[in-house]
Amino acid sequence: MSALVSTSSLVHEFTSHRSSHVALDHVTVEIEKGTSLGVVGESGSGKTTLVRCILGLLRPTGGSVRFDGAEVARMSTKELRAMRRRVGMVFQNPVMALDPRMTVEESIAEPLRVHTRLRGADLQRAIGEALDAVALPQAHRTRLPHQLSGGQCQRVGIARALATHPELVILDEPTSALDVSVQAQILNLLTDLRVERDLTFVMISHSLDVVRYLSDDVVVMLQGRIVEEGTAAEVLAAPQHEYTQNLVAACPTVESDSLRFALQSREETSK
Ligand SMILES: Nc1ncnc2c1ncn2[C@@H]1O[C@H](COP(=O)(O)OP(=O)(O)OP(=O)(O)O)[C@@H](O)[C@H]1O
Ligand SMILES: [Mg+2]
Repeated sequence: MSALVSTSSLVHEFTSHRSSHVALDHVTVEIEKGTSLGVVGESGSGKTTLVRCILGLLRPTGGSVRFDGAEVARMSTKELRAMRRRVGMVFQNPVMALDPRMTVEESIAEPLRVHTRLRGADLQRAIGEALDAVALPQAHRTRLPHQLSGGQCQRVGIARALATHPELVILDEPTSALDVSVQAQILNLLTDLRVERDLTFVMISHSLDVVRYLSDDVVVMLQGRIVEEGTAAEVLAAPQHEYTQNLVAACPTVESDSLRFALQSREETSK
């Protein structure tokens, strides 16, 4: 296996004339092709900053980020564009992430127009395939976001992210704005797509339950540092750091029980 993304002692310090803040403090991660990494940590721990450094949207203060072996900080504008074409992003709030004035098909067409040469009937076919992949009816093509449920909006968000066939998909809290039963449907959809398309995932979440279901490996972040890492099973079974122990202890909530139930009942029906 080879790493699709790796960071080495990555440091990012936000500075303004008044203050400075170390958002990433020597973060080293390796994301092998085809694996799923869960990034867990409280608000402000540096999760989104890590993603922005990986995409070359923020320049590291120290250390390095490599995408498929190439140093992101040294990429030309053209190389950065080529790299970002290989990455799909799914955001937390599906309704806000979509342009309220764009129909479903316009939303999905946008990344296809930017990143591919598909036009006309070929473009329409690609939109159709993207809708099929997330199990949205073709009849929804002309709907606007406010005419869809939260779960349907997130399906559009996923269709948009995957329409261009990226290799890496970065999911920033993809289900936290959704009801538990809808969360389970979206997690199941993501799991299926990941397997079918052999995708590499980086999944950001506050919830260990979501990460447990979707991730092979987990890193736990606290104040810009990785305080714990390992396979999802290891970290959940025997958390070493106090912060992770508290997260695990807080896990068996009513919400996670019903999420587990929804996920299990599907595992049984698919047997
Ligand atoms: N543009 C910025 N300028 C200054 N500080 C910033 C900036 N962006 C983020 N920060 C700070 O860096 C730290 C990490 O922020 P980041 O957005 O990476 O956290 P996060 O883990 O994604 O949090 P959340 O779970 O709330 O999304 C925070 O303390 C934040 O206030
Ligand atoms: Mg964030």
